[in-house]
Amino acid sequence: MKKFFALILAALFLLTAPAQAADSGVGLEDISADDFNTPIEKFYATLPQAHGDYKSRQRPILIEGAMNTETEILIRALKNPVAYREMNYLFVAGTYKNYPVVIVRTEIGLANAAASTALAIEKFKPCAVINQGTAGGHDPALKIGDIVIGANSFDYGAFRSAYSAAGAGIDITQQENIGTYAYDAATKKFQAYTEYRADPTLFNIAFAAANNYSGANVVSGVIGTGNGWLECVDYINFLHEKYGSSCEEMETNAAAQVCQNAGIPFIGIRVLSDNVTNDNRYVPKSAKVAQEFVLLVVERYVRDTLKEVSD
Ligand code: 5AD
Repeated sequence: MKKFFALILAALFLLTAPAQAADSGVGLEDISADDFNTPIEKFYATLPQAHGDYKSRQRPILIEGAMNTETEILIRALKNPVAYREMNYLFVAGTYKNYPVVIVRTEIGLANAAASTALAIEKFKPCAVINQGTAGGHDPALKIGDIVIGANSFDYGAFRSAYSAAGAGIDITQQENIGTYAYDAATKKFQAYTEYRADPTLFNIAFAAANNYSGANVVSGVIGTGNGWLECVDYINFLHEKYGSSCEEMETNAAAQVCQNAGIPFIGIRVLSDNVTNDNRYVPKSAKVAQEFVLLVVERYVRDTLKEVSD
């Protein structure tokens, strides 16, 4: 009997294992394993742990990514990296091209993005925040690997539906975005924002960087944020038409909201890792492209606005 079950289990394993490997493609945890000798978690373990408060003459640039795939290139690019942990979020402070930069692994979703951004602002007093990573395409003109510089972002879950009676059916296309609440310095009150706009300087600099970058097709667009993952193409098309969304992901708008509260310049930059409107693959390695591009944006931002960079 035991042998029989063992055989069934082995058969099941053989049937499912190759399918899983083919589905997941590259390991989600470490996209740059081929490029570096040390796997990312081992590399993190080698980083010196911070003792005491962060100190820097210049206010650092904070770059955010939700997962290892979206932060490891950035963290490995830092000189003299030091790891900080706060409420189990990982922050790594160092320098890039001689300017202080902090990378935070925000973890996935709006609440984590908001919490880790708030902690980072308190701890590191950044002069600017760049939230970057992967996203799913809403615009059929965009392909996997294309980069969206977020002119603005919005929370696609922050809507009020039209009234309909019990039994009338569900039509969530009858909706208005009601925004998320953030501090307005002019009125000194929290108010609803149906979108957060990118800081104009960061936006212009990202565009200038794009003009000198041949690694990807870079466009300006609208980033839609929510805790979901949409695969219903009709609903995606609806969001694209009603709100102009170029792509969806799970962090940008929450980080933008906290930066609005703190009055800190913010931009979201996303690479398409998937686009169900024209393709059904998910390509984790696309996360590399966003990080490479963001490093160029950082270099240019420091050179043109903070004027501190040297090689
Ligand atoms: N929908 C939602 N989030 C996505 N991400 C990549 N593609 C999508 C998508 N189609 C990003 C999110 C999150 C992680 C799962 O990847 O921002 O951090």
